[in-house]
Amino acid sequence: MKKIAVTGGLGYIGSHTVVELQNEGFEVVIIDDLSNSEIAVLAGIEKITGKKPAFETIDVCDTEKLRACFKKHSHIDAVIHFAAYKAVGESVAKALEYYRNNVCGLISLLTVMREFECANIVFSSSCTVYGQPDVLPVTELSPIKKAESPYGSTKQMSEDIITDTVAAEKSLSAILLRYFNPIGAHPSALIGELPKGVPNNLLPYITQTAAGLRTELHVFGNDYNTPDGSCIRDYIYVLDLAQAHVVALQRMLGSKESGSLEIFNIGTGKGLSVLEILHEFMQANGVNVPYKIVGRRAGDIEQIWAETTRANEVLGWRAHTPLNEVLQSAWKWEQKLRG
Ligand code: UD1
Repeated sequence: MKKIAVTGGLGYIGSHTVVELQNEGFEVVIIDDLSNSEIAVLAGIEKITGKKPAFETIDVCDTEKLRACFKKHSHIDAVIHFAAYKAVGESVAKALEYYRNNVCGLISLLTVMREFECANIVFSSSCTVYGQPDVLPVTELSPIKKAESPYGSTKQMSEDIITDTVAAEKSLSAILLRYFNPIGAHPSALIGELPKGVPNNLLPYITQTAAGLRTELHVFGNDYNTPDGSCIRDYIYVLDLAQAHVVALQRMLGSKESGSLEIFNIGTGKGLSVLEILHEFMQANGVNVPYKIVGRRAGDIEQIWAETTRANEVLGWRAHTPLNEVLQSAWKWEQKLRG
């Protein structure tokens, strides 16, 4: 049985990925410092899969502790690296913290992986590396634009660090997954997104407004150059996204070649506007979400969606869950949280 370390494995995408890994028969060691996650997620994972993964409370920047963890859980075959800060707005105010956590964390991890001859990494990257693209949809070969935020910058730097390390080490293989906008929750409603305080992201804001926690959704801008004037994104179901990690991992572990670096866009291939998602949510769940159009949010890009042919053809993966089911899962999770 292959052993996989999942950093940030109690987070939103991490926890769904752990579920899929365990369902596919992988042995999982979660490494998470609980800075933006809850220990209760572990019980949710156990309930869904019938198996409690190993868990270590470690900040990946703490190289000593990471080393001890790799020693304790000897022979880790691969790492999926999620652990990072991810709020675009916050990254502007806390630039140094973002660089330290996201960049130093990765360097610390790669250092320990090399010491323990762990030769495979799947990295959690983002469509943010494309900035505002000139041509849509974006392919993996689309130009990398100047980052719009320190958060985006850390993702670009991390991709460079991994690319250069693969070139230097030869034995290391890496897959960079560029996610678009993950949404929804596990259909069991045992795990899902747990935003701290006022949510930054659209879907948690919509579900909290539907639940009455927020008065109204603010739609940031209706004067963009899009059909209805609101921004367009590619919203991908978190469980479809989790499955992409499993197939990426299987591809790496099944390959006889080392020293490869591959990049995949992980999205649906379809762009939806803020207003479209909002109306789809209301329709899928039969609830009303009051909203108001307000000014644009600083740093927002106008529109982006993925070209997913590479992931479809090379990984044999595609997003398959219908949008109404995804939006129902998000609402079911919110209701569960509110008891
Ligand atoms: C951004 C990053 C993404 C990152 C994610 C993490 C880009 C292109 N994307 O996603 O890489 O992983 O943050 O948090 O940099 N909106 C509203 N009202 C709200 C909240 C959002 O109208 O209350 C709108 C936004 O203006 C945007 C869309 O909803 O058009 C999606 O926003 P959000 O969920 O925050 O994600 P991104 O900013 O696209």
